[in-house]
Amino acid sequence: MTTAIKHLEDMRAKAQMGGGAERIQKQHDKGKLTARERLDILLDKCSFTELDMFVQHRSNDFGLEKNRILTDGVVTGYGTIDGRQVMVFSQDFTVFGGSLSEAFAEKICKVMDMALKIGIPIIGLNDSGGARIQEGVVSLGGYADIFLKNTLASGVIPQISAILGPCAGGAVYSPAITDFVFMAKNTSHMFVTGPNVVKTVTHEEVSMEELGGADTHASKSGVAHFACANEVEVLQNIRKLISYLPLNNLDDPPVCEQSSSSNIAQEELDALVPENPNKPYDMHRVINIISDKDTFFEVHADFAENIIVGFARMGGKSVGIVANQPAHLAGVLDIDSSVKGARFVRFCDAFNIPLITFEDVPGFLPGTEQEWRGIIKNGAKLLYAFAEATVPKLTVITRKAYGGAYDVMSSKHIRGDLNFAWPSAEIAVMGPKGAVEIIFKNQIAKAKDPQKETERLINEYREKFANPYVAAERGYIDDVIKPHETRSKLITGLKLLKTKVDSNPKKKHGNIPL
Ligand code: HXC
Repeated sequence: MTTAIKHLEDMRAKAQMGGGAERIQKQHDKGKLTARERLDILLDKCSFTELDMFVQHRSNDFGLEKNRILTDGVVTGYGTIDGRQVMVFSQDFTVFGGSLSEAFAEKICKVMDMALKIGIPIIGLNDSGGARIQEGVVSLGGYADIFLKNTLASGVIPQISAILGPCAGGAVYSPAITDFVFMAKNTSHMFVTGPNVVKTVTHEEVSMEELGGADTHASKSGVAHFACANEVEVLQNIRKLISYLPLNNLDDPPVCEQSSSSNIAQEELDALVPENPNKPYDMHRVINIISDKDTFFEVHADFAENIIVGFARMGGKSVGIVANQPAHLAGVLDIDSSVKGARFVRFCDAFNIPLITFEDVPGFLPGTEQEWRGIIKNGAKLLYAFAEATVPKLTVITRKAYGGAYDVMSSKHIRGDLNFAWPSAEIAVMGPKGAVEIIFKNQIAKAKDPQKETERLINEYREKFANPYVAAERGYIDDVIKPHETRSKLITGLKLLKTKVDSNPKKKHGNIPL
C-alpha cells in the first residue's frame, strides 16, 4: 500500500509541476503567474479541490504520443470565494502553450456541467495558444462543445472569464458569451486574427497591445468589462464581483450587513445639480453618496462613459445601477451606451438583482454617424432590456428626461415600479430651446427682437413643461422628492418590492433587436 501511495504522491507532484520548472520560469519572466498560483489568489485559502488531475491527451500524431503531461494543460475543480462555492478552470500555458485538445475541452465541459447542475458560478482563467494544432478538427469540436455549454448556461449561472495571456481566433468566443470579461494590462491579448494577419489583409501595422490589449477592449471595443493593472488585481476583482452576485438565477443575491450605511451626508445632494441646466455634474458623486459606503463597483468604466453601470449595495442588498452621466457627452444615449446599458440590465434581470436608474438624459445622439450605424436598433436594445426586466425597478430623475430617452430609462410606462423625480427634473418631449424654435417659429420670425422673444418663450416653456409636476399629475412619477431623501426612499422601496412577482408571456425567447 505504501508503494501505491508513494506512486500517487509522485504523480500528484508531477502534475503540480505542469510543463516543468523551465517553462514555469518563462511564465514568470513574462510577468505572468502559473495556472495554480492564480487559483490560490482567486479562491479562499486551501479551498481548491482539483478534479481530473490525471487526464492526458489521446493524440498519437506529430510526436505527441511521446509527450503526455498530467492535466493536459488545464487545471479544473472547485473552491470557495468568501465561503461560497464556485467551479473553476485555469489554463496552464506551461503545458503545450495551454492549447486546447479533446481531453482539455472535456475537462472544461465537465466543470461547466457540474456548475450548471449544482447552480454555482463558473470562472474561467484563459491563457492559451488556441486550438491544439496537432489535434486538428477534434480540437475545433472541443471549442464548439464549450460554446454550446456557455450558451446554455447563460442566464442560469454567472459565467466569468479572465484573459491572462493570449486568446486568439475562435477561442475568443467562449469569453465573449460569458457575462463578464476581465483583462490584465500588457500581458493579455484577445483578437480574431493577430497583427501579422492584419498586416497581410489590411496592410495596417498594429501592435498586439493596440490591437487586442486590455485598454483597447475596455475602452474601444467594449469586449472587456474590466482592464486591471495586473493579474493579481484581476483575480481580486473577480472575488469582489462574486460578492454581489447570487449563485444562480433561482437564488437571491447575498446580503452584506456590514455595508448597510452611507458615510456621506445626504444633504450634499440638495446642491449637487447646478442651477444652469447646461452645466455638467458628476453622476458618480450621486451614486456614491446614495449607495452604502464604498460599495459602488463600476462595470465597463472606460467604455461609453456617457452611461454608468455597476453594482452597489443599498441597506446591505445588491443592486444594479444604471445612470446617465451628464459629465460625459451631456449623458446622451448613443449606440455604445445603449448596448452597454442593455447588456447590464439583462444580466441583473436574469440574476434577480434590483435595478436602480438615475436619469439625466438629453435624448438620443443625432447625426449621420449614429443613424447609419443603427442608433435606432441599438437604442431599441436598451428599451427592450428595461421593458422585459421583471426585477424591482426604481428610477430617480435627477434632471433631464427628454424625448424617447424618457420612456427608455425605466419609465413607469415600461413597468418601472417606483419612479421618483427631484424638483430639478425636466420631463418633456425635448429641451426648451429646441421646442420653442419649432412650435413658435412664425411668432419668433415676426417678433421685433427675435432673440428676446425666444428667451421669453424659453422661460415660459421651462416653467410650464420643464419640471416634474406635469408627469407627477398623471402618476407617471410616483413622488417628487428632495434629493437628500433619495437613499431612504430607495431603501424603503427595495424593502417594499422584495416580494414583487411579475412575469412575461410564455415564449421560447424574445427577439431583441440585435
Ligand atoms: C500546440 C502550441 C500551440 C498550439 C503554442 N504551443 N500554441 N502547441 N498548439 N496552438 C506550444 C509551442 O509549441 C510551445 O511548445 C509552447 O506552446 C509555448 O509556445 P511559444 O510559441 O514558445 O510561446 P510564445 O513565444 O509566448 O508564443 C505564444 C503564442 C504562439 C503567441 C500563443 O505560441 C503562437 O502563435 N501559437 C499558435 C497560435 C495559433 O495560431 N493557434 C491556433 C489559433 S486558431 P514548447 O514545447 O516549445 O514549449 C484557433 C482556432 C480556434 O485557435 C477555433 C475555435 C472555434
